[in-house]
Amino acid sequence: MGKGVYISKGLAIATVVVTVSAICGIVLMVVMYQLQIEKKPPVRPPTFAPTTPFPTGPPPSLRLPDSLVPESYEIFLQPYLYVELPNATDQTPFFKGNSTVRFQCVKNTRSIFLHALQLNVTKVVVTHSVTGDNIGVGRTTLHEDESNFFEIQLKEVLIGNGSYYDLFTEFEGQLLDDLAGLYMSQYSKNTSDEKEKRFLVASQMQPTDARKVFPCFDEPAMKAVFNVTIIHRSDTKAQSNSRMGKVVVHGPLLSQTAYGEQWVATKFVPTPRMSTYLLAFTVNGFESKDTDYGHTKIKTFARPEAVKAGHADYASIITPKVLKFYEDRFNLSYPLFKLDQIALPDFGAGAMENWGLIMYRETALLYDEHVSSTSNKEWIATVIAHEVAHQWFGNLVTMKWWNNLWLNEGFATYMSYLGVDHVEPDWNIRDLIVLKEIQPAMEVDSLNSSHPLSSTEAEVQTPSDISNLFDGISYSKGAAVLRMLSAYIGESNFFAGLKVSGGMLIASVASIYNDIQSIMKGWTEQVGYPVITINTTSGEVSQERFVLNQTGGYGLIWQVPITYMIRKPNFSPKPGQWLLVNINCTGYYRVNYDEDNWNKLIDQLETNHDYIPLINRGQLIDDAFNLARAKYVNVTLPLKTTKYLINETEYFPWESALNNLQFFILMFDRSEIYGPMQKYLRKQVSPLYNYFQNYTENATIPEKLTDQYNQINAISVACSNDVPECIEMATKLFQEWRNGTNRIPPNLKSTIYCSAIASGDEDDWDFAWKQYEAATIATEKDKLRYALSCTKKIWLLNRYLEYTLDPTKIRKMDVVSTINHIARNVAGQALAWDFIRGHWTQISQDYGGGLMSVGSLIDIVTERFSSEFELQQLKQFQRDYDEDGMGPATRALEQAIERTEANIQWVKENKQTVLNWFLQESQVP
Ligand SMILES: *[C@@H]1O[C@H](CO)[C@@H](O)[C@H](O)[C@H]1NC(C)=O
Ligand SMILES: *[C@@H]1O[C@H](CO)[C@@H](O)[C@H](O)[C@H]1NC(C)=O
Ligand SMILES: *[C@@H]1O[C@H](CO)[C@@H](O)[C@H](O)[C@H]1NC(C)=O
Ligand SMILES: *[C@@H]1O[C@H](CO)[C@@H](O)[C@H](O)[C@H]1NC(C)=O
Ligand SMILES: *[C@@H]1O[C@H](CO)[C@@H](O)[C@H](O)[C@H]1NC(C)=O
Ligand SMILES: *[C@@H]1O[C@H](CO)[C@@H](O)[C@H](O)[C@H]1NC(C)=O
Ligand SMILES: *[C@@H]1O[C@H](CO)[C@@H](O)[C@H](O)[C@H]1NC(C)=O
Ligand SMILES: [Zn+2]
Repeated sequence: MGKGVYISKGLAIATVVVTVSAICGIVLMVVMYQLQIEKKPPVRPPTFAPTTPFPTGPPPSLRLPDSLVPESYEIFLQPYLYVELPNATDQTPFFKGNSTVRFQCVKNTRSIFLHALQLNVTKVVVTHSVTGDNIGVGRTTLHEDESNFFEIQLKEVLIGNGSYYDLFTEFEGQLLDDLAGLYMSQYSKNTSDEKEKRFLVASQMQPTDARKVFPCFDEPAMKAVFNVTIIHRSDTKAQSNSRMGKVVVHGPLLSQTAYGEQWVATKFVPTPRMSTYLLAFTVNGFESKDTDYGHTKIKTFARPEAVKAGHADYASIITPKVLKFYEDRFNLSYPLFKLDQIALPDFGAGAMENWGLIMYRETALLYDEHVSSTSNKEWIATVIAHEVAHQWFGNLVTMKWWNNLWLNEGFATYMSYLGVDHVEPDWNIRDLIVLKEIQPAMEVDSLNSSHPLSSTEAEVQTPSDISNLFDGISYSKGAAVLRMLSAYIGESNFFAGLKVSGGMLIASVASIYNDIQSIMKGWTEQVGYPVITINTTSGEVSQERFVLNQTGGYGLIWQVPITYMIRKPNFSPKPGQWLLVNINCTGYYRVNYDEDNWNKLIDQLETNHDYIPLINRGQLIDDAFNLARAKYVNVTLPLKTTKYLINETEYFPWESALNNLQFFILMFDRSEIYGPMQKYLRKQVSPLYNYFQNYTENATIPEKLTDQYNQINAISVACSNDVPECIEMATKLFQEWRNGTNRIPPNLKSTIYCSAIASGDEDDWDFAWKQYEAATIATEKDKLRYALSCTKKIWLLNRYLEYTLDPTKIRKMDVVSTINHIARNVAGQALAWDFIRGHWTQISQDYGGGLMSVGSLIDIVTERFSSEFELQQLKQFQRDYDEDGMGPATRALEQAIERTEANIQWVKENKQTVLNWFLQESQVP
């Protein structure tokens, strides 16, 4: 336990607000960002006298030396790719280019270090920018290590007197389907017709792949102006970050074309000063839906068929609204004259905020009201709002180095909820941040393997160090901590702080809260978060780091903003008041109380839950389950918090309970506990199912977003726990579809298809499979692919697993998630485990190439493991394949073994108590 704070009851709680104080990210952020918001490059004061000695050889760290400061680039890129293959022509998957980077020399140096990766650099010329004098080039070296340095030795010393030089390089590279750097993607205009194949070039630079496209100073603080020209075939379009300039070349460039096609050179006007990781290039045959916003032209690009069908409409309606909202909130105009967004059939991340040319997966940008569900729509709005927020946080102001990535991602994530709230005010999305970011962040942040938001620069050096930072901590915990700050200082102060530009911001926030910076440190530099323990009898309050597997002795202290309410229950048989802390979960911490207070809170839930704010009803459930897992409280306490759900219709508490009960289901769905547990869940969910029954039967849609989501919960819990009306309903709707009419609303498709297939036969499965093969819209295909995994028939599941090895049946990018779906089904769990062990060599070869997903395969397939036998199997598997054989799954396998050991322990300690509890509570009164 941390050091205790003693307070007397009632009024004294308020003093906690002062002693256990708050936090601030803005100050820190601006300190980091300040450097980049300046209009001029961050030039160190030039030294005009030659200084010796000058450095030779590679720099000691993986960071570029600070002797050269890039100012601007002139880049020509020519991808040799057909968007549509002419008759009997081979695709030509490579690109050529040249680049001139103008840089200033501020420290004596005899070599130029920049980055290049997987490029053939065929020519290097260095000249003095003003005199044009040639500087002799000696040896050039492409370092084949994690530095990715491209080293150019010079025949003379460049003097650090602030002179400008031009480095010209000519280079060639390949267009692979690796979703990194400049890459090629293919898709079908229509399914299963070879002639209808289409191709495009897209790019993904973040974090360190601009160096795969052209030699460059590829660090976020090495900002420069980019003058880009793309040379592309004349039946294609090209886009880049800035607006298109005039076409400088039109017609054949005879020396560069083997087939006599026409080429077009599209020149783009110079970009603002920006980081290399935000560059974007694409060549495609897409069309766009256009809207004007002031002098900014907003275009939403997609496959022509998708644009024609109106799938880009929703994005093009909300984007200008989001843009306007941020401009008002930040009091800073969007600085470019255009904002392009493009939906790509193949994209590694969900989306990427490239300045002026945001790239998305199709599912994150295209909305079809007849097929997409509300959660698809919410996802689209959220991703757009996130990426547009980056146009300020990340693009205009940028972290100096990747160790502060959380500033970019935390801010964009937090802002996206405000942006979506502005365009869809009926959704109440601001509350959903607790379910979607905060609870998940707390879950990973309660593991011993978590890490602090902010690391030191020295800890983040290699490309894989950098990639590893793109995780739930940077995004979700970052957002949680900023939301806590905003709630503490008040949202208007939060934005007032943001409105002041540059260095002024620090002054304006810090003068009011001059201790903010030191307070903030606890949340950004320390790993984890606290659990606040309150004894309402003695008034004692203490804190310590909350860790699921407590090993003790963390010695960390946070300054915690405490919000609370005290209430005397009106009609309670028990005397006294209850205390509730962390109202609306604005604080990033958990709360534990003495047993008496817990019981009063549970009593309040059961007598009249409306006295406890909605978000806190979910919090009480989530905290109780987690406190039990970490052994602060008995396992029956969280189970007791679920009893009142029989009278609850709101999404928030239900979702919190279901997320947590998932663990109980995994641990017990193969044991004698499952019967009583299902009986209990049937009892609890039946009133909720009935509450939504009219909507479900008439295929109408509840008005509130959270009601729509809770209707899905009601159906999936009712059907999976064998509530007869539910199964009848699902079967009936599915049979109607088989007979020709599908009137299942998009929201309910996933869960109803799944329930119908779970209780259906081979013909139902085959029907769904045919529908899957015929579907052309990505979201519909995904829903069916999931539903097919729900059958209880072992042989069907086995056949489905075999399909994953055939790319004409299941696309490669979907293999891992399909096996995961099957493993989540209790009937498929053992099959999936046998399957991946049996085909490990093939699976790890096909997916071992740096993709994280093989790790997720191990992670999900072993989720249920909780017996000694399963532990032995895992260890045998580890022995059978040496480290190389496991590839990226090595870490996942170690974690699976650790988790299985923890599960065995947990089941041993709690099984009997849980069984007794469900036996007792499943009795019908
Ligand atoms: C890029 O364009 C700007 C504006 O036309 C120009 O000042 C700059 O010199 C160009 N950069 C290079 C490297 O040619
Ligand atoms: C390609 O094939 C189509 C039909 O097979 C034919 O009409 C067209 O002329 C061919 N084009 C070329 C460039 O050979
Ligand atoms: C760079 O490439 C473009 C397009 O191929 C060409 O027009 C230009 O002359 C090249 N620049 C130099 C300096 O060779
Ligand atoms: C780069 O050069 C090597 C060796 O000459 C060659 O095998 C490779 O195909 C080249 N790559 C590209 C993209 O031109
Ligand atoms: C709370 O404080 C009371 C009074 O000091 C004490 O008797 C009790 O043991 C404490 N409860 C816990 C859980 O520490
Ligand atoms: C808690 O959240 C609800 C719903 O968003 C809101 O109405 C209420 O004012 C919030 N309470 C506090 C104390 O902020
Ligand atoms: C808890 O962590 C310790 C040390 O990290 C480990 O040895 C132990 O097995 C873990 N226990 C459980 C139940 O996970
Ligand atoms: Zn982001």
